[in-house]
Amino acid sequence: MQFRQPTATEISELGQLASQTFGFPQAKFALTVERIGAENLRVAVEDGKLNGGLAVYRLEQWLGGRAIPMAGVALVCVPPTTRAGGTGRWMMSRLLEELQATGTPLATLFPSTQVPYRRVGFEQAGTWNQFQLPLTQIGRQRRLVQIHEVPLEAQSFHSLATHRASISNGNLSRSPGIWDRLFAPTDPEHPVRGYLLGDRDNPEGYIVFEQSMPQRIEDRCLLVRDMYARTGKATETLWAFLHGHRSIFPNLRWYGPPTDPLLAATEEARAIPVFNDRWMVRMADVPEALQQRGYPAGVKETLDLEVRDELIPGNHGRFQLRVSEGNATVTPGGDGSVRIDVAALAPLFTSFLSASNLQTLGRITASDQELQRADAIFAGPEPWMPEKF
Ligand SMILES: CC(C)(COP(=O)(O)OP(=O)(O)OC[C@H]1O[C@@H](n2cnc3c(N)ncnc32)[C@H](O)[C@@H]1OP(=O)(O)O)[C@@H](O)C(=O)NCCC(=O)NCCS
Repeated sequence: MQFRQPTATEISELGQLASQTFGFPQAKFALTVERIGAENLRVAVEDGKLNGGLAVYRLEQWLGGRAIPMAGVALVCVPPTTRAGGTGRWMMSRLLEELQATGTPLATLFPSTQVPYRRVGFEQAGTWNQFQLPLTQIGRQRRLVQIHEVPLEAQSFHSLATHRASISNGNLSRSPGIWDRLFAPTDPEHPVRGYLLGDRDNPEGYIVFEQSMPQRIEDRCLLVRDMYARTGKATETLWAFLHGHRSIFPNLRWYGPPTDPLLAATEEARAIPVFNDRWMVRMADVPEALQQRGYPAGVKETLDLEVRDELIPGNHGRFQLRVSEGNATVTPGGDGSVRIDVAALAPLFTSFLSASNLQTLGRITASDQELQRADAIFAGPEPWMPEKF
């Protein structure tokens, strides 16, 4: 079986398979290919027959204040006639080898089922959360900075999104295709709108949202695609702006980190989680990934890791991780006293689970002192992202 970029005919076959698998129209597949780039499609082909395919968004993911090249894996599909025959696992294995060989140390995906991805070393490593809050709960807030409606162009929001990413974990450096998804309305009758808060040339916040207008008034909702406020004034203004919609829309929905700091600034905070999904990460290149993320500035520690990885030989074995002044170096060797498999390393790496948490799950073997050292090295905000891909 070959794993490679598809020909034009194979792209159209993949479109039929994806459309059948995910239940979306062919036109949506064409738009997805435009956003991803045909060069980022992969197919499994044997004797001229398409046995499956997938797609990769070329992104970066922020961890510890640094952006790391990441493959956002999507559209993984195998024909229903041959599922559970090993093709999914085979394709994912070839993709991970390719990523390791071509300098992309991370792969991230939103699983429809965790089972096949766990088989190749993915593990839960961050969240995608949506909250709902009755707009009246925001309470009275002052509009302290100006609000400007702006065209939906990535450049309007990019520097603020990057600021948030640099102080969070898990946010994306969005590709043009991912920005395009963010700006695309759910219902063409209700366009997505974007606003900047503060000085137009040096904004302090932004909001990108759409309106959901079902028949029943009580079901109407403001759906925020993304929002961020970098200052106290922008935070209050953002809430004042949203509060101003309360006569038409009973509820607000938005995506945020599990403990969203914005909710510390509303009068009441009875937000309910609409969903709390988990995305998975696979470290395609462990030493590179460890060296590329940032670490807490005050931590100076060493860990002797022994990583098990049955798929990628370069990840398998003993590594000494030395962290100092926010940077890491990784060298082969050390006494391998912290034993972990490549899948369990992913949530530790993204600060999703601490080493102490992993020990309670039986996923790491280390002394108490080593667990504390690992906890300090990988301490940081809970990883999240405001979109799904
Ligand atoms: C998910 C999918 C890509 C997996 O490919 P596949 O060729 O069927 O999977 P494999 O045969 O390589 O299976 C790998 C493991 O995952 C398990 N698995 C596969 N599909 C599964 C499913 N839908 N639910 C639970 N487990 C599943 C297999 O049983 C196998 O486990 P095992 O090692 O214990 O036997 C394929 O089933 C598919 O196209 N499903 C519909 C689309 C979809 O859900 N895509 C994923 C989007 S994130």
